[in-house]
Amino acid sequence: MVSTPGELLSVAVRVARDAAATARRMRDEAIGDVETKSTDTDVVTAADKAVERQVTGVLLAERPDDGVLGEEYGDAVTVRPGAVRWILDPIDGTVNYLYGLPQYAVSLAAERDGEVVAGVVVNAATGDEWTATRGGGAWRAGRRLSGSVRTTLDQALIGTGFGYDARRRAHQGAVMAQLITRVRDIRRFGAAALDLCLAAEGSLDAYFEKGLNLWDHAAGGLIAAEAGLVVSGLAGAPAGREMLVAAPPALFPALHDALVELDAAGGP
Ligand code: IPD
Ligand code: CA
Repeated sequence: MVSTPGELLSVAVRVARDAAATARRMRDEAIGDVETKSTDTDVVTAADKAVERQVTGVLLAERPDDGVLGEEYGDAVTVRPGAVRWILDPIDGTVNYLYGLPQYAVSLAAERDGEVVAGVVVNAATGDEWTATRGGGAWRAGRRLSGSVRTTLDQALIGTGFGYDARRRAHQGAVMAQLITRVRDIRRFGAAALDLCLAAEGSLDAYFEKGLNLWDHAAGGLIAAEAGLVVSGLAGAPAGREMLVAAPPALFPALHDALVELDAAGGP
């Protein structure tokens, strides 16, 4: 099935909005159970799985030649050349979801031949929505996004995140202890997909994180790139598990060099 990036985005937006509604509804319904019979993890896992099943079911029913990569499906999903692989984070910001902090999202991207061509991130708590198509710009509520105009690191508000593994966190914390003295301030909101959208619209000057999975950054990474940000790893590497940095071109070199100096991509 041949579809333009714009057509893929229309599908993604419709499916992601419905998925966000399911996530929100499940939280409203389940939250009484958290204090009684369910464990914290049950609530999140049940919602994660239900949202992923819903999205996968709709996409594969409508587009049987496509593939879906989501947290439940693991990394190994391949599709035939030219076909679309959807990349889904059913609920990004699961800890916020658990606590009812309004910073959790459905992230859905369409990738073709290894390149993300369309993406949407929907904040499921607020309904805020960010979209992009490759070459078509990044948008929020009809406004085209162009990132921050900040040019110096010491004036920059930097978003980041921490992995779940304690040893990785120890390294990330050590990096942070140094970096925080060189920037305006640090923010850790808890949903990588939304952090990338905030950087795309300039609500954060830049964002970086080590250890992200593809579903964390596929949609948000395109949105940031289409807003004009440089989205990459360190020393010319592509953005990936080692490191993802998203910063406007004027800010990127200073942040990049600081992260290299502090060995932000190192550690476990
Ligand atoms: C996590 C969030 C968090 C980031 C972690 C991710 P999850 O995703 O995006 O902000 O720091 O690296 O794993 O577990 O909430 O889907
Ligand atoms: Ca995630």
